[in-house]
Amino acid sequence: MPVTRSSAAGVCWILLTGCVFAAHSVTFEVKDGNSTCIKADLNASFSITYTTTNGTSAVRFALPSSAVVGESSSCGEEELQVSFGAGHSLTLLFSKDEGLYRVSNISLQYNLSDSSTFPQSSSTGLVTVMTNVTEIWARLNSTYRCVSSSSIRLSSEANLTFSDVHLEAYMRGADFSSDESVCSADQTVTTSAPTQSPRTTAAPSPVPPPAPERGNYTLTDRNGTACLLALMGLQLNITHRSRALNQTVTEIVNLQPNRTAASGSCGVTVATLVLTEDLTNLTFTFTLNSTTQKYFLSSVSVSALWPDMTERFVERNASLNLLQCSVGRSYMCSSEQTLSIVSSFSINTFRLQLQPFNVTAGRFSAVEECRVDQENMLIPIIVGVALAGLVLIVLIAYLIGRKRTHAGYQTI
Ligand SMILES: *[C@@H]1O[C@H](CO)[C@@H](O)[C@H](O)[C@H]1NC(C)=O
Ligand SMILES: *[C@@H]1O[C@H](CO)[C@@H](O)[C@H](O)[C@H]1NC(C)=O
Ligand SMILES: *[C@@H]1O[C@H](CO)[C@@H](O)[C@H](O)[C@H]1NC(C)=O
Ligand SMILES: *[C@@H]1O[C@H](CO)[C@@H](O)[C@H](O)[C@H]1NC(C)=O
Ligand SMILES: *[C@@H]1O[C@H](CO)[C@@H](O)[C@H](O)[C@H]1NC(C)=O
Ligand SMILES: *[C@@H]1O[C@H](CO)[C@@H](O)[C@H](O)[C@H]1NC(C)=O
Ligand SMILES: *[C@@H]1O[C@H](CO)[C@@H](O)[C@H](O)[C@H]1NC(C)=O
Ligand SMILES: *[C@@H]1O[C@H](CO)[C@@H](O)[C@H](O)[C@H]1NC(C)=O
Ligand SMILES: *[C@@H]1O[C@H](CO)[C@@H](O)[C@H](O)[C@H]1NC(C)=O
Ligand SMILES: *[C@@H]1O[C@H](CO)[C@@H](O)[C@H](O)[C@H]1NC(C)=O
Ligand SMILES: *[C@@H]1O[C@H](CO)[C@@H](O)[C@H](O)[C@H]1NC(C)=O
Repeated sequence: MPVTRSSAAGVCWILLTGCVFAAHSVTFEVKDGNSTCIKADLNASFSITYTTTNGTSAVRFALPSSAVVGESSSCGEEELQVSFGAGHSLTLLFSKDEGLYRVSNISLQYNLSDSSTFPQSSSTGLVTVMTNVTEIWARLNSTYRCVSSSSIRLSSEANLTFSDVHLEAYMRGADFSSDESVCSADQTVTTSAPTQSPRTTAAPSPVPPPAPERGNYTLTDRNGTACLLALMGLQLNITHRSRALNQTVTEIVNLQPNRTAASGSCGVTVATLVLTEDLTNLTFTFTLNSTTQKYFLSSVSVSALWPDMTERFVERNASLNLLQCSVGRSYMCSSEQTLSIVSSFSINTFRLQLQPFNVTAGRFSAVEECRVDQENMLIPIIVGVALAGLVLIVLIAYLIGRKRTHAGYQTI
């Protein structure tokens, strides 16, 4: 079953100290018949401490370009075993759930009897170390990419460092998918350029992401006429149990308009907007109260399975009264606004304008602004009035002053 290996160009990172060791990016492929299930470009190095006859010693070596796909690699189990040197091997075990695949287990076997790698080792034989804590995950049908280097602790003696990794498991074709899941380390490196790279957020960062991009979500009726309009940037705030940290964390994620599809239905008194992103589903229900002639957001439900979640996050609140607006008008809130849905879930909206009912000619009707915007508008008005008042006072003082001096001359 295991088949090919081809050695890519060796990369040598020139550090100030010179070239520490030659790190090669090596390509491995696991095949079942003619179809490839795992492909990986790996640049790995190991640092291992071991006991010698006179103390302890540390070695650091790179995965050599002579490494080959090992015998226990398989497509059924989605396992990549890489063998190198005198009985050493690195094994990556993959697993998947609905929208993601991940490396669920990394193990390293090293041979202390190999005296060229472990000179003067006091013990001999094979040592196996492993971890099931990894941050390597990607959307299905996408390539995991991580140029930044990241260290993985396998035991108190052994560490593994990956860099310049491209890999894909559960593959559909023979080549890497052009769609990439970029690791979070790479994303922070490239934040200066607002790329549309999909997230594969690791343990949630304490720094909230930048304001989300504004999406245009329009629904049309059967005749193809727009019946619900929504322009908004959405940021989701979910509190859940972290897989990486095994504790409750708050994760803030922007909805990427680029990857989000809008669907739903328009009605006379109820309209529904469903937003679907790779790993997230959101449903907004708007209700029109014909007595008060107002409409409002009456219900929100969410279903999300993010990489760091231990299980799917599903919540719903159908007794909301948010974003209230007069019928025949559009609701607008340029300022950031927080919609609290349940205690573990809220949505921050940015530059929002929406109209779920009575849309004519595919355009927003007259605007009704949210209170925050009105208050924001009030500040410049107050400042303006205050300034005008000040100018007036100065002018009056000047005029009075002038009159007095004038009068003074007259008396002489
Ligand atoms: C594999 O490829 C060969 C030649 O391209 C072809 O003859 C064979 O039928 C293929 N086998 C499978 C299982 O697709
Ligand atoms: C162990 O001691 C010998 C003799 O003192 C020395 O030659 C050797 O370099 C030492 N090995 C290590 C790993 O320190
Ligand atoms: C470990 O290394 C020794 C010395 O190079 C070699 O004889 C032995 O076969 C290796 N063990 C395995 C399992 O490959
Ligand atoms: C991956 O691609 C296959 C075939 O192209 C498709 O059937 C499957 O639904 C896709 N999976 C995801 C999660 O996009
Ligand atoms: C990791 O995989 C190895 C075999 O490859 C297995 O023996 C070990 O139990 C696995 N560890 C975990 C934590 O799943
Ligand atoms: C679609 O167009 C037809 C004819 O113009 C009209 O009678 C009907 O009410 C329209 N349906 C909707 C859902 O707007
Ligand atoms: C996310 O929600 C938590 C808990 O409600 C809150 O403390 C935190 O300020 C929120 N963060 C953002 C950026 O909205
Ligand atoms: C996670 O934490 C819970 C309690 O906080 C504990 O019972 C459980 O064993 C932990 N799981 C792991 C894998 O550490
Ligand atoms: C997402 O948007 C960027 C520009 O913002 C564009 O370059 C890219 O092609 C878009 N991707 C998709 C899948 O539409
Ligand atoms: C409409 O609003 C009025 C006044 O707030 C309320 O009494 C009534 O129950 C509402 N009707 C619906 C259908 O929600
Ligand atoms: C649903 O929203 C209402 C209004 O904000 C709130 O009073 C209620 O506690 C929420 N329900 C849940 C289950 O959090």
